[in-house]
Amino acid sequence: MSVHSEIKKITTETLRKMKFDKEKITMLTAYDFTTAKMVDAGGVDAILVGDSASNVMAGFETTLPITLDHMIYHAQCVVRGVDRALVVVDLPFGSYQSNPEKALESSVRIMKESQAHAIKLEGGSEVEESIRKIVNAGIPVMGHLGLTPQSIFQFGTYKVRAKEDEEAEKLLKDAKLLEELGCFALVLEKIPAALAKKVSESISIPTIGIGAGPDCDGQVLVYHDMVGMNQGFSPKFLRRYLDLYTEITGAVSEFVKDVKAVDFPNEKESY
Ligand code: KIV
Repeated sequence: MSVHSEIKKITTETLRKMKFDKEKITMLTAYDFTTAKMVDAGGVDAILVGDSASNVMAGFETTLPITLDHMIYHAQCVVRGVDRALVVVDLPFGSYQSNPEKALESSVRIMKESQAHAIKLEGGSEVEESIRKIVNAGIPVMGHLGLTPQSIFQFGTYKVRAKEDEEAEKLLKDAKLLEELGCFALVLEKIPAALAKKVSESISIPTIGIGAGPDCDGQVLVYHDMVGMNQGFSPKFLRRYLDLYTEITGAVSEFVKDVKAVDFPNEKESY
């Protein structure tokens, strides 16, 4: 964050104030320079360099295979494209679960090597000590509860989480714990809208929902999903703002047709 910039940068404090002022927070994912530039210019408050890069950039089934080095590379590309938004980077699977020292080491690498503004990690009481250590080192932490895709093999499905009382109670307790530990915000993924409302009203830090109803303090979507690049992924919570899969494959077909017909390049397009 340059101190000489004219643009008013979004900070963790801005997000806290937005919750207080009841102004909804917007977050989208980005994993590369060009997309980050467009997403930032479109006016989102935060950009998440999500470990969903494992799915949409690398083509893996789950978020588990992506490495810390890969996440740092994506974060570096994004940070270079952003003037205004807060850039949050996911700690990938295996980079923080084993012990708090490793969690801090991974977070420090992300902050130092990418110059992003915050990290995000999944889980509640299980990662309490890690969050404490990272926050104590001065690194802003975003939590993530509900459907936490790094635990997919424990859950077994991508279905809605915390429908039953026991899991809902643990989630509410975890949300309060994350607030107490000093997290600046919290993603709530794929949980009942009523529970997300209760959580959002019970804590002072902003909640950012994905498949968690309208009463979260903000909303996040995966960029590739919201611009319709992913035809095969159609959860109920997703709103597609474009159909880029059709647009892009159509443009590619036109290019192929024009080259085959020796219509491209024409005289005007040649030196
Ligand atoms: O990795 C990601 O894109 C995420 C969002 C779904 C919140 O964690």
